[in-house]
Amino acid sequence: MQLKVVLLSLKDEEQQQAATRADKSPGHRILDLPQNVASLAVHSLNGSLRILIEGENTMDILVINGGMPKGGRTELLTQFIAKEYRLPYINISEIQLPLLTGEQEQWQLPAVISFKKKVKAADGLILISPEYHGGMSGALKNTLDYLTREELNHKPVALLATAGGGKGGINCLNNMRTVMRGFYANVIPKQIILDPDCFDYEDGTLLEESRDLVTKLVDELNMYVKMSHTLIVPRE
Ligand SMILES: Cc1cc2nc3c(=O)[nH]c(=O)nc-3n(C[C@H](O)[C@H](O)[C@H](O)COP(=O)(O)O)c2cc1C
Repeated sequence: MQLKVVLLSLKDEEQQQAATRADKSPGHRILDLPQNVASLAVHSLNGSLRILIEGENTMDILVINGGMPKGGRTELLTQFIAKEYRLPYINISEIQLPLLTGEQEQWQLPAVISFKKKVKAADGLILISPEYHGGMSGALKNTLDYLTREELNHKPVALLATAGGGKGGINCLNNMRTVMRGFYANVIPKQIILDPDCFDYEDGTLLEESRDLVTKLVDELNMYVKMSHTLIVPRE
C-alpha cells in the first residue's frame, strides 16, 4: 500500500522538525488530527498527533481499459473512474502488446515489461471491458495473457463491463472472473454492467444511478485492498 502513515507526537521536538521537513517534500502532506481520532490508531503517545500521508491517493489502484475504440463508452467509463478517484490507468489500445506467440523475445519488449511491472506494483485492479460476443474483448484477453500469478496472486480486482443493452454484459463479467481466477486474483463480489443508457454523453460522464454503483464498487475494492494488507499468504 502506498499510504504511509507516521504518527508523530508534537511534544517531541525532533519529531516536530521531521514533520516540518516532510511537509515540504513533494508528494507529502501533513494532517492535524484531534487526539481522539489519532488515538484510535495509537494510544501510547501523548499530546496532539500528526499523520503523514505519502501520495495523493489513499490506495494504489490501477485501472485497465480493455476497450479498443477511441472515444468509446469503455474509454469514457475508464476516464470517469480515473478522474473521479484520481487513479492511474492503462489503455490497452495505447500499449498495443503484440499477439502472444510464446516467442522468448516478446517477454523482453519494453511495453510488456512496463505493463507487468505496473500491474505487480498495484495494490488492486479495476478491469473494464466491453462485452464482445459473450466474453471480454479479444484484445484484453491477449494483453492479460502476458501476466502470470506473480503479478496477480491474491490481488483484489473489481470488474466492470460495457455492453450493448438487452441484458448483455454478464458473460463478459463471468469470463473476466474465470480468467482472473486462473491467476489466483481475488475478484471482489460486486461487479457492474453499463449499458448505453447509463452514460451522460453531453458531459462525458455517467448518470447518477450508475455513478452510485461505481462509488459502491470502488468502496468495496478499497475495503478488500485494506484487508489484503493484513493477509499472511499461506505457503503454496
Ligand atoms: C464485435 C462486437 C461484439 C459485441 N458483442 C456484444 C455482446 O455479446 N453483448 C452485448 O451486450 N454487447 C455486445 N456488443 C456491444 C458492445 O459491448 C457495446 O457497444 C460496448 O459499449 C462497446 O464498447 P465501446 O463503446 O468502448 O466500443 C458488441 C460490440 C461489438 C463491436
